[in-house]
Amino acid sequence: MEYLSERAKLLKPSATMALNRKAKDMKSNGLDVINLTVGEPDFQTPEEIIDYAYKAMKDGYTKYTEEKGLKELREAICEKIEKENKLKYEPEDIVVSNGAKHSLFNIFLAILNPGDEVIIPIPYWVSYPAIVSICGGVPVFCKYNEEFKIDLDDLKEKITKRTKALILNSPSNPTGIVYEKDELERLAEIIVSNRILCISDEVYEKIIFDKEFISIGSLDKEIKDLTILVNGISKTFAMTGWRIGYTASKREIADAIGKIQGQTTSAPSTISQKSSVFAIREGERLFKNMIIEFKRRRDFLIENLTKEIKYPYPFGAFYIFLNFKDMNSNKFAERLLTEKLVAVVPGSEFGVDNYIRISYAVNMKQIKKAVDRINEFVKENQ
Ligand SMILES: Cc1ncc(COP(=O)(O)O)c(C=O)c1O
Repeated sequence: MEYLSERAKLLKPSATMALNRKAKDMKSNGLDVINLTVGEPDFQTPEEIIDYAYKAMKDGYTKYTEEKGLKELREAICEKIEKENKLKYEPEDIVVSNGAKHSLFNIFLAILNPGDEVIIPIPYWVSYPAIVSICGGVPVFCKYNEEFKIDLDDLKEKITKRTKALILNSPSNPTGIVYEKDELERLAEIIVSNRILCISDEVYEKIIFDKEFISIGSLDKEIKDLTILVNGISKTFAMTGWRIGYTASKREIADAIGKIQGQTTSAPSTISQKSSVFAIREGERLFKNMIIEFKRRRDFLIENLTKEIKYPYPFGAFYIFLNFKDMNSNKFAERLLTEKLVAVVPGSEFGVDNYIRISYAVNMKQIKKAVDRINEFVKENQ
């Protein structure tokens, strides 16, 4: 008797997890391993937010909320999106979920019929293909151009009658690239003329340097109607463990997402939701220094990594995607770990075989050591 579903069997074990395990084992054996695989800010949630959460519990925010989320939080999200992203939504267009990952799950459950295709640009965040597949969709991968952005000719070729949506992620995990306004306009033109949806994953919007973040939905009404905006508090407010993400979309889609959520988790933790009202309203003030620190680290890496290493210029997020002599990514990652005690994620996880991803969500001391070791590796392998 086979007890596991085809769906469960579809999921491949992650190479990152295996490397992470290996890095942890090496560390517990006393080796000085530097872990650059991390996908979350190394900053703590500010005391003010923690105090606010405590008060929220004392004030009785300990019961279920509406299935789309606490009304006050959805109002705060609408104010934020209008002010910062130049997009007007009503609280009923917003659904708050257990992190942006859960928002993505809800979206695909709401829009996909079995066999519907979702275009995922390479390099992609590791979870996109898995989420689409679990929800019954078919991931269709789209090539990148010399700037690591969507190759528009390939995109046009990949759109078929079965295409339901395209995923856009700017600033990007794993490359840190950020789309310019004219690039978004060209993309929007293709999306609108083919009447497909655009899932705009904006979780790194505030971790951006020397550039303005533009939400694709803000370009005009046509693209706004086809866009499902995804965001959350994990990355930009260093609140990964609070598990709050959200979507903003047309009412019909928000209602469907709300219904699905109502039958699965009911809604996220009320304490986290109430605390997110405060985080979203006060975030700019509380996290200014974190963004400054990320920029300082990014600048240090760019100035100090040896010129033999190539990468798309990282304007945002907290990652850099490195290439050294087109070395196979699994081999590169494995050798950096065993020979130089630096743990990184192989690009194969993101659909690119000859790059590795490093994260600079670790302190400057670790970054300096890591740069020395990577440069040493390059020197030894010229
Ligand atoms: C591109 C991208 N989207 C979404 C998420 C999910 O964030 P969360 O579920 O913590 O809100 C991540 C986390 O790594 C990410 O990198």
